Amino acid sequence: MTHAVVTGAAGGIGRSVAEHFARAGAELTLVDVDADRLAALADALGARHLVLDLGGADGPAAAVGGAWHTHGPVDVLVNAAGIYPSLDMADVTAAAWDRVFALNTRAPVLATAELARLAAEAGRPASVVNISSGAALRARPGGGPYASSKAALEMATRAAALEFGPLGIRVNAVSPGFVAVDSACNPVTDTYAAAVSVNPLGRPGTPADIARAVLWIAGPEASWVTGEILRVDGGSGTGAAHLPRLWPPDASGTSPGSPHPTPGTLPDSTKGHTS
Ligand SMILES: NC(=O)c1ccc[n+]([C@@H]2O[C@H](COP(=O)([O-])OP(=O)(O)OC[C@H]3O[C@@H](n4cnc5c(N)ncnc54)[C@H](O)[C@@H]3O)[C@@H](O)[C@H]2O)c1
Repeated sequence: MTHAVVTGAAGGIGRSVAEHFARAGAELTLVDVDADRLAALADALGARHLVLDLGGADGPAAAVGGAWHTHGPVDVLVNAAGIYPSLDMADVTAAAWDRVFALNTRAPVLATAELARLAAEAGRPASVVNISSGAALRARPGGGPYASSKAALEMATRAAALEFGPLGIRVNAVSPGFVAVDSACNPVTDTYAAAVSVNPLGRPGTPADIARAVLWIAGPEASWVTGEILRVDGGSGTGAAHLPRLWPPDASGTSPGSPHPTPGTLPDSTKGHTS
């Protein structure tokens, strides 16, 4: 039976990940700093749990080591704990920057390193999924430290995948677009939520959308996938949908007086040969 450790399990995405693994028959060790919500979920799923501050230097290794030594070898580690505070670059302090990076970047890296050591010693394969964010590729006002922490996490994911691949340890990331989770520790305004919810698929994402991708990339169906950043965002990361077209569409099919081709019609030179 798969033993999965899920951090941030008391939160919106982590909880859904835990529920999906439970439904798939995994044994779970759930980790979070929010003792009450974590215990309630663990009870509901019949899972074990560890209350830990993963922002501390020792928390991440304690999470993986505790799960492994108490409940047996860990097959899957999902690093979902994270904070996304609004913090302008002009207001950054050393403490605030370090706090974001300690949880969002250092914790997954240290937890992965501990799993790699234990799995290598035991000669076992393992699979890690880091929860990144579309912010890793797109800065926005107030999101600089968060975006930076996730960009660093994506590179750390690739670096770990390179080094641990020969040991049979896969390391991937799932990068969600915005999904509403109604979080107490990560509040967002309605205006922000509305602005970042727009995507080509035209419906809001849900924690379950993210959890299904995590389950797939963590599992045997993705056994030849490592170092991958899987964007699960309704297509919102594919481009800037709100930008205007170069030329306004013209129903007549011609643009009188314009040297440029009419939008929607290709110049002759780009049309394929028919013979
Ligand atoms: N919701 C989104 O739109 C979205 C989009 C992209 C990425 N993400 C990422 O998904 C992950 C989960 O976020 P969420 O939206 O479910 O938020 P959430 O606030 O619901 O969950 C975060 C969880 O992390 C826990 N946590 C916070 N500090 C901790 C600490 N020091 N030690 C241990 N646990 C701690 C919280 O208690 C909470 O349960 C985060 O990494 C976040 O960056 C979320």
